[in-house]
Amino acid sequence: MRFENKVSIVTGAGQGIGEAYAKALASEGARVVVAEINEDQGRRVATEIGESGGEATFVAVDVADEASTRALADATISAYGGIDHLVNNAAIYHGMKMAGLLGIEWDYYKRFMDVNMHGALLCARACAASLVERKGAIVNQSSTAAWMAAGYYGIAKLALNGITQSLAREFGGQGVRVNAIAPGPTDTEATRKVVPEFIKDQILSQMPLSRMGTVDDIVGACLFLLSDDASWITGQIIQVDGGQLMRP
Ligand SMILES: NC(=O)c1ccc[n+]([C@@H]2O[C@H](COP(=O)([O-])OP(=O)(O)OC[C@H]3O[C@@H](n4cnc5c(N)ncnc54)[C@H](O)[C@@H]3O)[C@@H](O)[C@H]2O)c1
Repeated sequence: MRFENKVSIVTGAGQGIGEAYAKALASEGARVVVAEINEDQGRRVATEIGESGGEATFVAVDVADEASTRALADATISAYGGIDHLVNNAAIYHGMKMAGLLGIEWDYYKRFMDVNMHGALLCARACAASLVERKGAIVNQSSTAAWMAAGYYGIAKLALNGITQSLAREFGGQGVRVNAIAPGPTDTEATRKVVPEFIKDQILSQMPLSRMGTVDDIVGACLFLLSDDASWITGQIIQVDGGQLMRP
C-alpha cells in the first residue's frame, strides 16, 4: 500500500494502459480520479475500482481544452482535498488516422497535437499549485515512437519528452518530480487496431525480448516513478520496451 493517503489523476484511464495505471494505483491505496473523454468507459473503470474495494471517481475531461483541465483539477481537489500524482496518459491513439505529414488534413493534425502534445502541459498547469503544495509527481506517457521518425504521432511524443524535461527543471525547486515512460509496442485493443500484423511481426523480430509488452509490463515503471523509491529521479524518460531501442 505505497500510495495510501495519496490522490492520483490518470488521464485517458478509460481503457488500455491508463486503465491499468488507475487500477494499480487504487490497489496500492491511492484515491484515483479516472479522467476520460469517453464517459461510458471512464465510469466503468471507476465503478470497477470501487467494486474491488478501491476508491475512485470519474471526471469527464478533454485534455486539449484548458477550461476542462482546470475543472478536472478543481473536481479532484473538491473530492479528495489535493493532487499528489498526475499521470498524463491520454492520447489520440486508438482509431487514429494513418497518414503522412504532407498528406494529413491540417485540422486533424492540429487537434491531434492539441491532445497528444499540449494536453499533458495543460493538465500540468491546471494541477501545478496543488502538486507544489503536496510535493507531488508527474508521469507523462511517451513512446519509443518518439525516436523512430513516426510522423505526427512520434513528433507529439518527442515534444512530450521535451515538456517532461523542461517541467522537471521548472518544478524541481518546488519539490515536484516530472518523468516519462516510453513504452514499446504494447498489446492493447488500440495497438491491435492501429498496427498492422505484418509491421508488428517485423518490429518483434528485431527486439531482444521478442514479444509484445503487456499493460502489466508497463505499470511497474509508473508506480515506481510516482513512489518515494524514485525520490531523486526527475527529468528522465524511461524506456519500457523489451529492448526495442537501445540509445547510446
Ligand atoms: N499501446 C502501445 O503500444 C503504446 C506504446 C507506446 C505508448 N503508448 C501510449 O500509451 C497511452 C495509452 O495507450 P493505449 O494503447 O492504452 O491507447 P488507447 O487509445 O486505448 O487509450 C487512450 C485513452 O485516452 C483517451 N483520450 C483520447 N483523447 C482524449 C482527450 N482529449 N481527453 C481525455 N482523454 C482522451 C481515450 O478515450 C482512451 O481511453 C497513449 O498515450 C499512447 O500513445 C501506447
